[in-house]
Amino acid sequence: MALSNGPSRAGDSQMMSLLDNMIGVSDCVLLEPLTEDAFVENLQKRFKANEIYTYIGKVVVSVNPYKPLPLFSQNNISEYRGMNLYELPPHIYAITDDAYRAMRDKNRDQCVIISGESGAGKTEASKIVMQYVAAVCGKGRDVDTVKEQLLQSNPVLEAFGNAKTNRNDNSSRFGKYMDIEFDFKGDPMGGVITNYLLEKSRVVTQAPGERNFHIFYQLLAGAPDVLMNELDLTRNPNDYHYLNQSGTQQIDNINDKEQLAVTQKAMQVLGFTDEEILSVYKLLGSILKLGNVEFNSFNTMNGTDGVKIQRENELLDVCDQLECSQQDMIHALTKRTIGQKGEKVTTTLTPSQASYARDALCKAIYDRLFTWAIKTINSSIREESKDNAKNKVRDGSGRKVMGVLDIYGFEIFEGNGFEQFIINYCNEKLQQIFIELTLKEEQEEYIVEGIEWTNIEFFNNIAICDLIEKSNVGILSMLDEECLRPGDVSDSTFLNKMNTTKSIIKHPHYESRSKCKSDKTIDHESFRLKHYAGNVNYCVNGFIDKNNDLLFRDLSQLMYKCDHLLLKTLFPEGNPKHNSQKRPPTTAFQFKSSIAQLMKNLVCKDPNYIRCIKPNDDKAPNDFNEALVRHQVRYLGLMENVRVRRAGYAFRQSYELCLSRYKMLCPKTWPNWNGPAREGMVQLFKHLGYKKEEYAFGRTKIFIRNPRTLFDLEKRRHHRMHYLATLIQKIYKGHRDCKKYQKMRASVTQIAAHYKGYKAKSKYLKMRMSCILITSLWRGYLARKEYKRLRYEAKCIWAVGIIKKFFIGWRVRREYRKLFSANAAPKIVAFMRRYVISKYLLKLKTQLPSMSPTDKNWPPCSPIHKSAHLKLKDVFRRWRATVYRSQVDEQKREILGTKVTASDLFKEKKSSYPASISVQFRGDYVRLRNNTKYSKIAVQTEDQKIHFADVVDKVNRNNGKTTHTLLVLSSKSFLIMDQKTLAIKYRIPLNEITRITCSPYSDGVFVVHVTKGGEFTKKGDFVFISLKVIEILTRFSRALQMETSKQNVVQIADRFNLDFNGSSIQATICTKNIHEINPAPQCKRKGKRLDIMA
Ligand SMILES: Nc1ncnc2c1ncn2[C@@H]1O[C@H](COP(=O)(O)OP(=O)(O)OP(=O)(O)O)[C@@H](O)[C@H]1O
Ligand SMILES: [Mg+2]
Repeated sequence: MALSNGPSRAGDSQMMSLLDNMIGVSDCVLLEPLTEDAFVENLQKRFKANEIYTYIGKVVVSVNPYKPLPLFSQNNISEYRGMNLYELPPHIYAITDDAYRAMRDKNRDQCVIISGESGAGKTEASKIVMQYVAAVCGKGRDVDTVKEQLLQSNPVLEAFGNAKTNRNDNSSRFGKYMDIEFDFKGDPMGGVITNYLLEKSRVVTQAPGERNFHIFYQLLAGAPDVLMNELDLTRNPNDYHYLNQSGTQQIDNINDKEQLAVTQKAMQVLGFTDEEILSVYKLLGSILKLGNVEFNSFNTMNGTDGVKIQRENELLDVCDQLECSQQDMIHALTKRTIGQKGEKVTTTLTPSQASYARDALCKAIYDRLFTWAIKTINSSIREESKDNAKNKVRDGSGRKVMGVLDIYGFEIFEGNGFEQFIINYCNEKLQQIFIELTLKEEQEEYIVEGIEWTNIEFFNNIAICDLIEKSNVGILSMLDEECLRPGDVSDSTFLNKMNTTKSIIKHPHYESRSKCKSDKTIDHESFRLKHYAGNVNYCVNGFIDKNNDLLFRDLSQLMYKCDHLLLKTLFPEGNPKHNSQKRPPTTAFQFKSSIAQLMKNLVCKDPNYIRCIKPNDDKAPNDFNEALVRHQVRYLGLMENVRVRRAGYAFRQSYELCLSRYKMLCPKTWPNWNGPAREGMVQLFKHLGYKKEEYAFGRTKIFIRNPRTLFDLEKRRHHRMHYLATLIQKIYKGHRDCKKYQKMRASVTQIAAHYKGYKAKSKYLKMRMSCILITSLWRGYLARKEYKRLRYEAKCIWAVGIIKKFFIGWRVRREYRKLFSANAAPKIVAFMRRYVISKYLLKLKTQLPSMSPTDKNWPPCSPIHKSAHLKLKDVFRRWRATVYRSQVDEQKREILGTKVTASDLFKEKKSSYPASISVQFRGDYVRLRNNTKYSKIAVQTEDQKIHFADVVDKVNRNNGKTTHTLLVLSSKSFLIMDQKTLAIKYRIPLNEITRITCSPYSDGVFVVHVTKGGEFTKKGDFVFISLKVIEILTRFSRALQMETSKQNVVQIADRFNLDFNGSSIQATICTKNIHEINPAPQCKRKGKRLDIMA
């Protein structure tokens, strides 16, 4: 055994060894002590920790967990891919990968032999192998098709070849060997499946609690109604004798309906045509219906016994499906023809014989159908492989093969029959090649490594194999002979024959009652074989019959006669032309030759073993039945396995790996060994002081005989590792702290340097600043001093200049004083003043406002001239007015004087005043001055100078009525004259007029008040109405002022007193609208009242 095959992918030193963290021992070769108890205990310990796989060298022991474990994911596959066997915990993936790589890279064909008892997990293991291979090999359309077909072969094989048994719900009832073919790149190209010994008796009978093959139930549950009608089947399995005997039709967690879809899909993928699939279903339906056919006996007319068929209609359906005549069918089932051509004798069968014939027919149909299905699968996969071979393997480098054998393991039951005998024979053969191959491998390795080959003591089962299979003298030959022998042949004659054959009875591994008469553990119908896995008693009942496995010729001929698609192929011997009288080979013969073929096939391949163990009989997870496991360990020959593995040296490993793992145990090799690894190992072992026989040095590997030595090495390594870990820790910590210290020291120096630098720099900067400051202060001081000096010097110069000037001035003044008048200053002041004033006046001259008397502008001036400026303003205005006035003539002056007087008198006092402003005061409206008549009159009255003359309305004093009269105002009097004759009606000297009254309204009424009782005023005051009232009153006022110097004679009032003829009259002027001018106001005299409606 080698812990490593070749160099590891991971670095050697980092390689995770099988020895690390293992539960129990993961390789039983290392078990110490090597006892069955220790072995089982180790398995149990690992099983409890869900470690279901354990190695025996390169053999994987697999304990069925009966529960899903997280061990089969894509990740797990990747993990194991390309890793060496012992780098990871034991796994099927590990040995599959090992085998796959050996096949691909070393061009060596491989086989994986999976064995174990029913329910131990062989088929699951084979699927795991195929899953791994499919996952790791290449990809591509062709490759994927082949992979798919290989994987899809499982559902078909399981549907037809598996059934529920009391030990396993999905028990394979046949042995299977599958060769998967690969091209030079390791891509699958196809495969060949070989089947061994289908348990066909299950077709016709099943033990209670078991089922027929899955496909029957799948068909009934899953076939569509149309198909069910075509096959004329009912869905209830209880309707069929072949399905209802066991009382079990269902399996927990299995849906037969869904499974049919899976099976059918797989068949299609595998190239079954639709007609073939239908034909298969027809055969299955026919088997079920045939099973329902019963036979009764009856007496024929001629007194002989006859057979009557019950439920003939079922038979009719069968004939329909198989496409044969009913008569032929009945004949074949109830009669038997013996003899050659011309000498044929037909006998009628008894009902039991007929039932036997019926069952034999059904078994034969199913068995051959199964074989045909496998052939069809093979041809489909082969076809593919042929195409691939054409395309891919052009260089003829050939294919490489990996075989997977899923075959029944050793069986030891209470009663063991023909099947167990055959199966156990097969396992003996497998054990034989296991021993052969293992020892061969061991021996080869010893030779290669140059180790002396010492004979290994182990149980060699070649003697048992010989006992069973040796030509002429073996049990199988005995059985065949007995079957072929004419005469009375039975199972007991066969047993007898064995008991009387010397080579058998004397064989140390054979026992029978006749050999060991006192041994009551063997009954009289049994014999015992001492297999490598234990003693098994076989009951001979049924041996002859099962070995013969005869199908009456009538039946095979009938089948050949059918027009059904497959039957002619399935029963070629039924061809009448096929006239061979040769007996068909017996079961034993067939099995022996197929096993021989298998062995031949396996021997030329590198074997890889998976030994499956069932932990309990209840299909329960976490239940480890020690007795049951012990039993299996025994009959699987696992202890034998270990012993063979340990026969030579228990442990071997390449020098490099071994040295790298254990070099710490010797001071010479630790920490590094520079010489060859072998030398290092020599030094190491010398230092450790192991006995010479405990180890051997090969060419490339060290061999350790006893696991104890290995464990001792491991123990020492463990201790040493602790010490080294501490040492490494210590050194590491020391190194770390040293580094830290150095770092800190360097930091301190650096910090100090920085700090000192910083400090020196600051000091330097400070000093520099101080220097600069001091220098600048000093320079400043010097500069200031110099400046002061210069200033002083300048001042002195200036002072000297001043002094000089003063002095010169003084001297000049002193000299010229007598030349200057003493009061020059006032003159200068007066001059300056004049200058200033003249400047002001000249400036004012240019700024004088316009000559318009209405222009109110006046230029600004400096405050020193304020009072003069205001006075000048007044003077200027007056002067301007004077100039203006001087430009006005006498007439215009008179007019303006009159207008000014009018303004003084009436402005804002009489409402008709504003209208009078624009009206020119002409005075003489009637041209009286040019009137000669008046001139003559005026000469007498001295009234030549006329101020005003116009016609006015005079109000009568008595009635208030008005009359037109000429009113004349002269410089001496006012006259009331006849307007036509110019006769003077009244002449009142101006000094007789006391005042003149008018209203504030726009009327033309005015009253001339005269002195009472005067010479010319006896009649009293005069009331006139004239539109020129403003002018008249103005002229009156001016004339009175000029002639009599009377002031303020004009009175404005709306109520006033009048003197009419000496009596005082109250006059009232009223108006509706003060601005409306009424040219003819109404005057009414009412007693002492005069109302004037203006
Ligand atoms: N690796 C596994 N993980 C989980 N369950 C498993 C595993 N292997 C086997 N089993 C369970 O055990 C059952 C029986 O396994 P399998 O059919 O492989 O047994 P077998 O050895 O082929 O039996 P037989 O000889 O009757 O065919 C499976 O149906 C499955 O439930
Ligand atoms: Mg199986």
